[in-house]
Amino acid sequence: MAEPILVAKDLVKHYPIKGGVLRTTVGHVKAVDGVSFELGRGETLGIVGESGCGKSTLGRLLMRLEEPTSGSVVFDGADMYSHKGAEMRKLRRDIQIVFQDPYTSLNPRKTVGDIIGEPFDIHPDVVPRKGRRKAVQDLLDMVGLNPEHINRYPHQFSGGQRQRIGIARGIALKPKVLVCDEPVSALDVSVQAQVVNLMEKLQNELGLSYIFIAHDLSVVRHISDRVGVMYLGKMVELGTEDEIYERTTNPYTQALLSAVPVPDPTLRGQRNQIVLTGDVPSPANPPTGCRFHTRCWKAQEKCKVEEPLLVDRPDGAGGHRSACHFAEVRQVIETVDVSGQSPEEAATMSARGGAVGATATVLDKAKEAVSDLKDKVTGQNDDGLDPRAPQAQQAYGSPQAPGAGRSHGDGDATGPDVPGDPHTR
Ligand SMILES: Nc1ncnc2c1ncn2[C@@H]1O[C@H](COP(=O)(O)OP(=O)(O)OP(=O)(O)O)[C@@H](O)[C@H]1O
Ligand code: SF4
Ligand SMILES: [Mg+2]
Repeated sequence: MAEPILVAKDLVKHYPIKGGVLRTTVGHVKAVDGVSFELGRGETLGIVGESGCGKSTLGRLLMRLEEPTSGSVVFDGADMYSHKGAEMRKLRRDIQIVFQDPYTSLNPRKTVGDIIGEPFDIHPDVVPRKGRRKAVQDLLDMVGLNPEHINRYPHQFSGGQRQRIGIARGIALKPKVLVCDEPVSALDVSVQAQVVNLMEKLQNELGLSYIFIAHDLSVVRHISDRVGVMYLGKMVELGTEDEIYERTTNPYTQALLSAVPVPDPTLRGQRNQIVLTGDVPSPANPPTGCRFHTRCWKAQEKCKVEEPLLVDRPDGAGGHRSACHFAEVRQVIETVDVSGQSPEEAATMSARGGAVGATATVLDKAKEAVSDLKDKVTGQNDDGLDPRAPQAQQAYGSPQAPGAGRSHGDGDATGPDVPGDPHTR
């Protein structure tokens, strides 16, 4: 791993639970409960885990949007939690966030120019006031949107385009680290691919490091150099993409991977799916010892009393960090998407294995599509209509018509009109 830009050590966040007439504290939700990891310069670290395992809380702690109960974050050599006032503001410039929902994370009453330019109001020294319009237009261009749309409102963009606006805002201050909290989860799969590809392009151009939070293992595999798996506020496995997807030693990760859908019918019969029993325990009262022991098929007495540490354990090709007393490699059947392939291609892919499912394939296809895609508006929808709206379709003709209603940036706005759009393949 490259030299770390961010090191989190024993991060803990417990939220008090208030109860009774006097609203006294009757317990704590242990949202993040002792998480340690490092992020290399220029690296993408994926964070995965079921809903409620503490991913977003961890992201907010890294940004210091919340104060931790205990633990530390060292960012670029500086202890983040010991900084105050102007010092902290300066540090914050270097670590920015992109939120999940492009529909609610943008203020509908502000123009795109105001939204993207907002960070310049907080950090006026970054761009002088009279240079802001040009800076915002440059950012729009960088994320594949038309700089002339600076005065439009969020509702005049498609979901994928709005997420590009969120990314433009995230990179406005030229941060070193971008925390992306489920940045593509609200988008359909082909648009996910385009946004993920944009993020990879920006990473190369700007030397960004990413924390990429998601619950979709396929997307995370595609973009990440390393992956951390969380369960009930703990990191249970941490390793390179290959270590996690090919040589996982942790039963929880194995169960998660085995739940990735297999679109290839020839593989379904052979599927070694691990079905977990029991509900996810409450983070207010997590199980003793290994938190996964109430659902783990390998659990033994030791698991109930002794917490397994996240330390290097053998994986058949060296070792990587896994929090399990009985860590061992288990081959979880690999998933390959053969939808949209010719029978010959499908057979080759099935034999080869190694892909991670639907999204990976679509992502690769969309990569080609995006490289062909002319990302600039052709001027056909310059009246500001969302091209998905019925009136826009009337104005520009049917979305199936060649070249009709072409959008800027994302194929999601108009569907199949975009050259090489994966929908049409
Ligand atoms: N401000 C808060 N006050 C009390 N509890 C909270 C607060 N924020 C989060 N929690 C709790 O902390 C736990 C972790 O929440 P978090 O949002 O970090 O999970 P997550 O992994 O991001 O889930 P999802 O995948 O659904 O976004 C949950 O049980 C949640 O209810
Ligand atoms: S420590 Fe025990 S309960 Fe926990 S994952 Fe390993 S085998 Fe399962
Ligand atoms: Mg979340």
